[in-house]
Amino acid sequence: MKLLVTGGAGFIGSNFIRYWLEKYPSDQIITLDSLTYAGHLSSLSDIEKNPNYAFVKGDITDPVIVDELVSQVDTIVHFAAESHVDRSVKDPLVFVKTNIIGTQTLLEAAKKHGNKRFHHISTDEVFGALTLGTDAKFDENTPYDPRSPYSASKAGSDHLVRAYFHTFGLPITITNCSNNFGPYQDTEKFIPRMITNLLQGEKVKIYGDGLYVRDWLYVLDHCSAIDAVLKKGKIGDTYTVGGLTKDYSNLDITMMILKMMGKDESSIEYVTDRPGHDRRYAVNWSKINKELDWSPSADFDFRLQETITWYNSNQSWWKDMKITSENFYKNK
Ligand code: NAD
Ligand code: TYD
Repeated sequence: MKLLVTGGAGFIGSNFIRYWLEKYPSDQIITLDSLTYAGHLSSLSDIEKNPNYAFVKGDITDPVIVDELVSQVDTIVHFAAESHVDRSVKDPLVFVKTNIIGTQTLLEAAKKHGNKRFHHISTDEVFGALTLGTDAKFDENTPYDPRSPYSASKAGSDHLVRAYFHTFGLPITITNCSNNFGPYQDTEKFIPRMITNLLQGEKVKIYGDGLYVRDWLYVLDHCSAIDAVLKKGKIGDTYTVGGLTKDYSNLDITMMILKMMGKDESSIEYVTDRPGHDRRYAVNWSKINKELDWSPSADFDFRLQETITWYNSNQSWWKDMKITSENFYKNK
């Protein structure tokens, strides 16, 4: 296969490229990434000399570069996005540009060049929020109800991807996954922010009462889910992907991390809540489990411990980024 991976210098994209080239060493990957604040070439430094890998710096909203690259591949795996809810509260426009217009630009090129295979990476946040203390979960039939500029822009991109399937027969699939965690995640996101704060002797910042619930998916399990969908998924279908079977609140996860890092509750600081903060996400991943035989490869606690070890051992990867992310929070 020859793949165009958009957003390959980001968190999930870089893990996906590493995963794919290890598993399918004769496949070829071109990544297109504009290197926003969230793109880090250092996340791909071990791959840059691989002859089956090429990096192109460019924007997914640029039809010229997109057209040229799409013409060279058979499959597009689309990760590139503005991905942080807190940033979408501050500056929504760039989310509309990248997440909606960028996706449209890629879809148009995929259609033009003979209906290339298109896999779109999306989020469970498009489904809105669930009530705390219920068993309700998001699945492939949950109606869309996005509530932040981030999730609204991802919802728009999902609708466009499905529209290209129904209107033009573009061979698409979509995964709507839960919160990822693992190596190479930007320090602005919850789990790496907590771990790196503690490694630097700072407190962790808990928004509001900390009783918010997310489903957590280890990033390499997400990569294997995309692999399963690319190889065996039904064209036109959507798969919801999650990692957990029970609820953990942000505070539960904080307590686990504090314990694993030899700290206690005195390292917690409660801070002002995020506006429009979604209370609970939970994902039913039985369709991908039953139809494509996919499941997470290890327990959450084990992966969390591994992630802590990774951030501890790779401080040079995140030290400078941490200054940028904490400056963002100071000026928020
Ligand atoms: P990220 O923010 O870490 O990386 C995004 C990458 O896209 C960066 O390398 C950035 O430089 C690049 N990019 C941004 N705008 C671009 C543009 N206009 N043109 C080209 N490149 C551009 O994001 P991530 O966490 O790796 O998320 C990847 C995808 O997965 C996104 O579509 C996101 O919505 C989705 N997703 C993420 C999570 C999560 O927990 N991280 C959960 C569900 C879904
Ligand atoms: P985040 O990693 O930003 O992902 P998302 O908003 O896409 O779910 O946040 C995960 C949860 O953690 C969310 O409920 C907000 C909360 N949070 C904190 O309590 N403190 C923090 O410092 C951050 C970054 C997030």
